[in-house]
Amino acid sequence: MLKRIPVQQLRLGMHVHEFCGSWMDHPFWRGAFLLDDPKDLQTILATGLKEVWIDTSKGLDVEGGKTKEAVAVEIDAALAQVHTPSKPTPYTNIAQEAARAVKICARSKQAVTSMFHEARMGKALNADDALPIVEEISTSVMRNPGALISLARLKNKDEYTYMHSVAVCALMVSLARTMGFNDEQTRHAGLAGLLHDVGKMMIPVEILDKPGKLTEAEFDTMKSHPVEGHRMLLEGSGIGEHALDVCLHHHEKVNGSGYPDGLAGGEISLYARMGAVCDVYDAITSNRPYKNGWEPAESIRKMAEWSKGHFDQRIFEAFVRSVGIYPVGSLVRLASGMLGVVIEQTEQSLLTPIIMVFFSIQSNARVQPELLDLSKPSCKDKIVSHEDPAKWDIKDTQALWSGMAVTPW
Ligand code: C2E
Ligand code: SIN
Ligand code: SIN
Ligand code: FE
Repeated sequence: MLKRIPVQQLRLGMHVHEFCGSWMDHPFWRGAFLLDDPKDLQTILATGLKEVWIDTSKGLDVEGGKTKEAVAVEIDAALAQVHTPSKPTPYTNIAQEAARAVKICARSKQAVTSMFHEARMGKALNADDALPIVEEISTSVMRNPGALISLARLKNKDEYTYMHSVAVCALMVSLARTMGFNDEQTRHAGLAGLLHDVGKMMIPVEILDKPGKLTEAEFDTMKSHPVEGHRMLLEGSGIGEHALDVCLHHHEKVNGSGYPDGLAGGEISLYARMGAVCDVYDAITSNRPYKNGWEPAESIRKMAEWSKGHFDQRIFEAFVRSVGIYPVGSLVRLASGMLGVVIEQTEQSLLTPIIMVFFSIQSNARVQPELLDLSKPSCKDKIVSHEDPAKWDIKDTQALWSGMAVTPW
């Protein structure tokens, strides 16, 4: 059984399953292991990590601790307090918007790729080149945020940086709307998202696209990308202060352990704190050269666990309101014994989205896909858990919500 315990309760003979907290803060990349070396125990205690998951079926147990279910219930209870934003007007349904968002993703990726390549060659970045991309992404997000955001998650890992820029732009626009920003502020947020990682163009490709863990020296090089990007934007024309600031400070953490400046809490600007949340969500839900993505619903839960040191709590809550507890495309299991894919959020609650029901667990077979609005008072069904599509060997969740099959960008 997996159990989450305070680090102080760790003893030799326990099987360490996973560390809780930023994975860059701890010295192990080897994943699960049997703790049998006193030096390892010392190292773990020295990291300042507070909690750790142990596997009691593979090593010693200890009194107390929290089970995975208990932690999940705690997180879900906290998340359920958050309310959903009202629908934008005009509003388009997800399949309509997905058809447009596919084209916008393709155009945006192309435009970002050439802009970033030119910047690498020394051409000055110009807000006039970037703003039309932001504008197009924004109009889609305003009509229906789930479509473009969910499509932009599907990435070709070798060209991750470009689509990541498009995705973070869309997430920033959506978050800005949820936080009540006006049009101009929303445009600043979107532009900042689009340009936040431009400094990665200055990182040698062997490091940027390295298929495994970076050495300490390589990670030091990687950590220069905010400063490099900031320099590139300063040399550009018409790039405003928010984009400059998010580029420089999107890797700061509220507990002061981020880089490049180790800023804490309110020393980090509002836009940069927003950028940090959007950046990490898109990173961990995407396939990258060094790591495969997690499911969106799982990612929200992981971020809720890490969020205390890394993110601004209020902003993280607003972010959850903007993408959902079960983001569009999540596979969910219903109390009725059916599986479905989340199609869109509803205004009533983040726990009652609209679902495309398509699989019966009892008969272990597909059924004719049917829409189910869990927020309707007449609907007696509810979500009992999010599910990993791989576990059910379901490969077409994306086609089920968007109405079409899309190849990764
Ligand atoms: P970060 O940890 O500061 O990493 C910044 C960038 O360095 C990453 O951007 C990625 O381009 C590169 N990088 C970091 N570690 C490795 C590695 O082991 N191999 C390679 N080839 N590159 C690496 P990316 O991927 O867009 O991630 C953005 C941020 O999202 C990360 O900033 C981190 O805060 C968060 N993040 C990403 N993946 C994970 C994860 O698996 N666990 C946790 N806790 N956070 C993650
Ligand atoms: C952690 O945050 O330490 C666990 C997730 C990971 O392996 O990156
Ligand atoms: C804009 O006015 O939207 C561009 C300047 C910026 O905020 O970065
Ligand atoms: Fe970055």
